[in-house]
Amino acid sequence: MTENARPRVLSGVQPTGALHLGNWLGAIRNWVALQDSHDTFFCVVDLHAITVPHDPARLADDTLSTAALYLACGIDPDRATVFVQSHVSAHSELCWLLNCVTPLNWLERMVQYKEKAVKQGADVSTGLLDYPVLMAADILLYDADRVPVGEDQKQHLELARDIAQQRINARFGAKGADGEREAILRVPEPLILPEGARVMSLTDGRSKMSKSDPNEGSRITLLDPPDLIRKKIKRAKTDPVIGLEFGNPDRPEADNLLGLYALLSGRSREAAAAECASMGWGAFKPLLAEAAVEALGPLQERYAELRRDPATLQAVLDRGAEEAETVAQATLKRVRQALGFLPRS
Ligand code: TYM
Repeated sequence: MTENARPRVLSGVQPTGALHLGNWLGAIRNWVALQDSHDTFFCVVDLHAITVPHDPARLADDTLSTAALYLACGIDPDRATVFVQSHVSAHSELCWLLNCVTPLNWLERMVQYKEKAVKQGADVSTGLLDYPVLMAADILLYDADRVPVGEDQKQHLELARDIAQQRINARFGAKGADGEREAILRVPEPLILPEGARVMSLTDGRSKMSKSDPNEGSRITLLDPPDLIRKKIKRAKTDPVIGLEFGNPDRPEADNLLGLYALLSGRSREAAAAECASMGWGAFKPLLAEAAVEALGPLQERYAELRRDPATLQAVLDRGAEEAETVAQATLKRVRQALGFLPRS
């Protein structure tokens, strides 16, 4: 494994349902700044999207839509590699190799698996259990140094680190003269920025904003029109106290909505807290709604433009898949060799 010329970044979002403020503020928004200082790879993780029952008639369009949202949020395909996970078959292949060294009980411990499995009942797929190994393959294929994600992905990142370090490098790395094993896979670091890392539901400040919540009023999606944004914020859960504040454990909704206001309006947390310290909910909600409408407006315009030209978008993804493939195949070759496979002549 050689050193990366610039530190590498890889991240992805599932093309399941509309992306929401949590996906944006917790993840995609943070990817944008990294494009200048890092080699960045951003994939639409469509293989992950079929780990729960999915609609084949929608998968391709949801994949394009998610890619368009990456670009609309400021990902620049001339600086970043933007691609679709299933276009690079090395993801599935490395996943298999990693499966065979990952203990089952590591996967059974995953909180997100346990939560989602309860919802699926008897129908829970092997893919849902295996999902974090596929995610590890996504990351490890690109020798990623850093993985910018929201807080909910932290456990999956730790798993990817453990697989790379304990199950591949420590077991299969060639021993050097000093007795140390050579690294085959780079061990990645999570990059979780505290602000926006955990955007909570509009209808329950104690549970995270999520695509799978059956109540659409619980989330603002990046493509919600202004009136719908206003309506959702108007109906958002509040409490009987006047004045918004951070950090009061009895007031999770105040903490969440004030945090959203700070992020969406571009104010510091201190400035937002000072501005809203004695504001009633009736005055605060329209302020938050307008900040959201203003923040999402330009993004929605760019998105509409990109969707009007599917050929260009497809060309971006084709080019991205080619760039990604080269890097991914080199890593896959290293792992196949270390595991002792007979090469094709
Ligand atoms: P996904 O599609 O559920 O979410 C995409 C990104 O959005 C973040 N996120 C949130 N951040 C803050 N508040 C929230 N309420 C919130 N909800 C979601 C997630 O942390 C994530 O960063 N397994 C991943 C996708 C994936 C991936 C990868 C990520 C597959 N392979 C490799 C990084 C690297 C997932 O399902 O994310």
